[in-house]
Amino acid sequence: MKKKLVRNTSEHFRQIFHEKPEYVFLSPGRINIIGEHVDYNDGYVLPAAINKYICFAISRNNSSSCVLHACDMQDTYQFSLDEPVKPVGKSWVNYILGVVSQLQEKGFNLRGVNVVFSSTIPMGAGLSSSAALECGYCYAMNSIFHLGLSKESIAKIGQKSEHNFVGVNCGIMDQFASVFGKKNKAIRLDCNTLEHDYHKIDFTGYSLLLLDSKVKHTHLTSGYNIRRQEVDKGIGIIRTHYPHVRTFRDCTKEMVEKLREALGETIYKRCHFVVREIQRVQDAVQAIERKDFLALGKLMSETHEGLSKEYEVSCPELDFLVDAANHEKTVIGSRMMGGGFGGCSINLVEKGSEKKLIKLIGEQYKKAFGIKLEAYKIKISDGTRQYREIH
Ligand code: GLA
Repeated sequence: MKKKLVRNTSEHFRQIFHEKPEYVFLSPGRINIIGEHVDYNDGYVLPAAINKYICFAISRNNSSSCVLHACDMQDTYQFSLDEPVKPVGKSWVNYILGVVSQLQEKGFNLRGVNVVFSSTIPMGAGLSSSAALECGYCYAMNSIFHLGLSKESIAKIGQKSEHNFVGVNCGIMDQFASVFGKKNKAIRLDCNTLEHDYHKIDFTGYSLLLLDSKVKHTHLTSGYNIRRQEVDKGIGIIRTHYPHVRTFRDCTKEMVEKLREALGETIYKRCHFVVREIQRVQDAVQAIERKDFLALGKLMSETHEGLSKEYEVSCPELDFLVDAANHEKTVIGSRMMGGGFGGCSINLVEKGSEKKLIKLIGEQYKKAFGIKLEAYKIKISDGTRQYREIH
């Protein structure tokens, strides 16, 4: 599948620019095993890069103009590096311009490029196609023009691009996972310090199955930014009562419970979720280490409950998918994944049961919402990289 994507993208490049691309890069999407909405709350997360990619075919063009072609959208955009870039009316372009703007601000002397890109990461499905686009472009510019950026800087530039040019005040998880991914490993990332370690993902008798609700997370931007405001308010109130508390990392469930009235019901629920979720990631890592997958599955299901009832970032379709999965004996954990308001659920299921589950839940889903369920069996892959095989 990766080879086909590279071949198609390179072929498109040849058709448009009448030459072979000088470089090819791959930038992956991500899953998150557990640790949702805590990356911007000083928590831990447990994401991994997956074998779904955006492929970039690129050549330098010896000018100061960049020509971008998005194969999947059949759309082209051209801009000049002689002036500072600004957001435009096309969202796919803004992810890239946001990166260019950061690089311009840092004083890097970029030169013109011809770029064709194409993707196997479904858009709006919560698999971070946007982080793959931002980080893939930044990684490519870094390699081609020898900018000397670290992987950490690339992830941060991607994140800032999303803040400034797209308007989602996201955390660092998606960009970090896309850049730092490792084959068959999940990354436990401390979002406070960006320290991280890798944990082998071998669920022995179980596998991860993604079920795509096909609900595009269009409310994500407003819903997400509102959640950020709510938790900021919450931690502010907690600090006035407990001056030693710096971040949610220092909070306990008991503190939040004691302050229920002062916080007000909505903010109490948000904070309660965050404190519990930070702990759940730690518990999940231990469960994985001792190969206690039933415990991991249970934690995933608790996360869903919290995201749905307390953080309120699920939607009826995702709740339905999780509920339907929980009714099946072969599913040991199920939850919505990513920012929410649509996208995928991630399920820990008995190996070999996937086909039956997809059929069964697919039928129920179709009946309830009239939507055709899409399922993805994914592999955990390496992060953003140059593709050097012959193409
Ligand atoms: C989106 C954001 C991430 C993270 C998740 C929720 O994917 O981009 O930073 O906050 O939502 O965990």
